[in-house]
Amino acid sequence: LIAFFQKKSLAGKKVLITAGPTFEAIDPVRGLTNRSSGKMGFAIARAAIEAGAEVHLIAGPCDLATPLLATGKIIRSDIVSAKEMHIAVMNTQDYDVFFAVAAVADWGITKPAKDKIKRNGNKVPTLEFTANPDILLEVAKTAKIKAGKPYPYCVGFAAESTDLKAHAQEKRERKGIPMIVGNIGPDTFGSDLNQLLVIDERGSKKIATAEKLDLARQLIQLVAK
Ligand code: CTP
Ligand code: CA
Repeated sequence: LIAFFQKKSLAGKKVLITAGPTFEAIDPVRGLTNRSSGKMGFAIARAAIEAGAEVHLIAGPCDLATPLLATGKIIRSDIVSAKEMHIAVMNTQDYDVFFAVAAVADWGITKPAKDKIKRNGNKVPTLEFTANPDILLEVAKTAKIKAGKPYPYCVGFAAESTDLKAHAQEKRERKGIPMIVGNIGPDTFGSDLNQLLVIDERGSKKIATAEKLDLARQLIQLVAK
């Protein structure tokens, strides 16, 4: 009902969203991942469709149902690694807004073992890492200006353990994006509740603690504006 009465502020717009964690294989049974339930990204997907948009949701391994699938307004691509997420994003064209909500692994294992690494007494293996592409940075770099606005309009997310505002501001500048959203928490990961700090060229604004879907709806209205 809420969705029905909401203003269709993103009517005719195409929205790309990355959500959830990525997983970097060490061997066929082990790997490294990031903490992310995917709930915020999936909530943004739902809120964007409610607002009239068409959504492409690129999701890392997370156990969540595709929101509003029956509307036909959402396409979901499931990926595992950051490299796969990068390819899926680069293969998507002509979208108006990009929400980079995924917790992307910054480093992948250079050469994952083909077979399971067996225990060897007390000896521990050494892992060698290779940097993964910065997906958001790459998208932002190629953004154009359309009717005086950045196209696509890129929204980054930041989860920090200290100095959220300073780190988020630094990231917004480094990535050259118009908006970044900080997770204030307190218990962001896996929780249905969160609190957000939205930073754009006009300054920063808090969105008070609420359900992630409620936060997503408020964020969509800000971005639509
Ligand atoms: N991001 C991305 N690709 C990456 C890393 C991050 O698209 N390889 C995006 C995330 O989805 C998020 C934003 O960049 O929207 C910020 O991610 P974050 O990990 O906080 O920033 P980093 O630049 O990786 O900095 P650090 O991990 O050192 O804090
Ligand atoms: Ca990172």
